[in-house]
Amino acid sequence: MDSTVVKIAPSILSADFARLGEEVRAIDRAGCDYVHVDVMDGHFVPNLTIGPGVVAAIRPYTDKPLDVHLMIAPADPYLEAFAAAGGDILTVHVEAGPHVHRSLQKIKSLGKRAGVSLNPGTPESTLLHLLDTVDLILVMTVNPGFGGQSFITSQLQKIRRIREMIGSRAIDLEVDGGINNETAGEVIAAGADVLVAGNAVFTGPDYGETIAGLRAAATSAQVRSRAYTA
Ligand code: DX5
Ligand code: ZN
Repeated sequence: MDSTVVKIAPSILSADFARLGEEVRAIDRAGCDYVHVDVMDGHFVPNLTIGPGVVAAIRPYTDKPLDVHLMIAPADPYLEAFAAAGGDILTVHVEAGPHVHRSLQKIKSLGKRAGVSLNPGTPESTLLHLLDTVDLILVMTVNPGFGGQSFITSQLQKIRRIREMIGSRAIDLEVDGGINNETAGEVIAAGADVLVAGNAVFTGPDYGETIAGLRAAATSAQVRSRAYTA
């Protein structure tokens, strides 16, 4: 992996929904790399959040990529709408339907970056035949549905294995759930290079400081793990 670049993707699930546009602008100015948008349907996950209309509404507030995490089943009927709304990365779950490969092809045909996500109970082997089709792999380190949950440590081994599976491919390895300065270091050392953080960013007083703190924790974990493996 390119061991110098770590991306920070604040999840707007923990933002103030009444001021969503301003919140997106604030994390943009605070130095985020992606804006992570959690879409939930009350069916695939036990919570309801936002749809393509809200994605379109926040689009003018940032030029950073909108990283749209689709926790919906089925996903395929909505891919065009999220692409048209301005999503840049569209991520579907392998557990969301029988035809994840078709979903990824559809996302690519819409001119978007295609992501695939795994719930904590899903093994990395489900990615084996998707590696040449995806731009991003999202490992859930909580059971999806809510912000503010505790990091599930068993996922570190999965992250390490997926990093090996990726090899030299240009695929983002993103981690989502329970990320703070401590767990950031652990997932980066395991091979992740994109950190989603909801509560950690939006409950702090200064988004810029929190994002910089996560980046610093990630970078020092990279340096330590490089020294260890050298
Ligand atoms: C969980 C979502 C996450 C979540 C992360 O279902 O996919 O993006 O909001 O929130 P924190 O960082 O608070 O665990
Ligand atoms: Zn998410």
